[in-house]
Amino acid sequence: MAKRREKFGSSLAAVMAMAGSAIGLGNIWRFPYMTGQNGGAAFILVYLLAAFILSLPIMLCESLIGRRTSSGTFGAMEKLAPRSKWKYLGFLTVISPLVILSYYSVVGGWSIDYFVRSVAGGFGQDVSSYFALFVANPSRPLLYHTLFIVATVLVVSRGIKSGIESFNKISLPLLFVLIVIIMTYSLSLPGAMEGVKYLVKPDFSKLTPSAIAAAMGQSFFSLSLGVGTILTYASYMKKQDNLLRSGAGTAFFDMVFALLAGFAIMPAVFAAGIEPGAGPGLIFETLPFIFSKMGLASPILSRSVSILFFLAIVVAALTSSISMCEVGVTYLVDEKGFSRKKASIVIFGATWLLGALCSLSFGPLEQFKILGKTLFDFCDHLTSDYLMTFGSLLFVIFVGWKMKKADVRDEFTNGGRLGVSGRIFPVFYFLVRYVAPAVILIIFLSNLLLK
Ligand code: PHE
Repeated sequence: MAKRREKFGSSLAAVMAMAGSAIGLGNIWRFPYMTGQNGGAAFILVYLLAAFILSLPIMLCESLIGRRTSSGTFGAMEKLAPRSKWKYLGFLTVISPLVILSYYSVVGGWSIDYFVRSVAGGFGQDVSSYFALFVANPSRPLLYHTLFIVATVLVVSRGIKSGIESFNKISLPLLFVLIVIIMTYSLSLPGAMEGVKYLVKPDFSKLTPSAIAAAMGQSFFSLSLGVGTILTYASYMKKQDNLLRSGAGTAFFDMVFALLAGFAIMPAVFAAGIEPGAGPGLIFETLPFIFSKMGLASPILSRSVSILFFLAIVVAALTSSISMCEVGVTYLVDEKGFSRKKASIVIFGATWLLGALCSLSFGPLEQFKILGKTLFDFCDHLTSDYLMTFGSLLFVIFVGWKMKKADVRDEFTNGGRLGVSGRIFPVFYFLVRYVAPAVILIIFLSNLLLK
């Protein structure tokens, strides 16, 4: 355990890892339809505000705990608050990302299948029933779920630099290129401007309290907050890295990517004459339909766009799943003395099993319900509505009320060396102590009472 811990090679590499964690299914799948349903530009405005006033401070709280202790979630709590109840926060944030990883990799697996389908030439005659038939039949979703987790674990088992850093260095630029190509194509379709209007025209009448809570919830999910992934990545940052700049950079990239995805998807939806109320089925049901419709006019073009699109989803999902997996692996390596390989195998076993059960909940295990939900829905609901907000709440309380102010400032400003961070510190500290806990509590309670 006295072994020297690895570090990211540069601050850019750390930002790319965090941005990789942030950019995922949340951006491509959730953001476009939520924006559409909740008032377009008005929603984006609240989302932006939430990202910088609420989510960024939470992200910085996680970052400064991780970097200060050079430990994963569990070890960090043991170092900063030894033998206290805070260890449960450490424990919770080892478990939550693994639960997310389990069902996330099921969706990652679907994306692989859709990619393979696109390469093989399409979704068959009856494209509208493809999804329902595909998920209900256990073998293929299970196979691709397994493949997705294997890919995730393989990258993580190679370590911070040769695994995670190298993978993100290639995949993030690739992702941007892919999404820009798709967006350009989508914007060139006749009727695309309706989709653009849908995203940018602010409709403040749709900005109800629940839409505002949804914007904040989306921001949490998209920035991977409250489940220790940011904390864990920050524990591999160097002492001279600038936490404020890295956090702001991550939030910025995530935002840009969400907007690009919105402008890649919605114009195509409108061009195909479809109502965008599709919700969660947008990617796996509506889009293949659109691709097959476009295929009537230009088969090669539509097939290429479909291939690039599902490839983008696989890559985006992988950069996120890797960050979830790293939390568990860091725990086993740091706290239990496992080798990275052995830790990766253990995490593989656990998440594969839970994920397989989630996958089967669309078929043979459909009738198995927890609180009226299938296992897949339960895991999704539990983590994104409760564990992420609860974890975030505890992290801000920990930094704002448990840690010494001088220590927080010291880490935030790299021992006073970062002038800009020093000037921003009072605002940050105020947000963390008062604003963030109150707002997160409201979101948590509204999830509990209204959903
Ligand atoms: N931020 C990821 C996304 O947008 C999801 C995620 C959640 C990643 C929690 C890590 C931890 O898809």
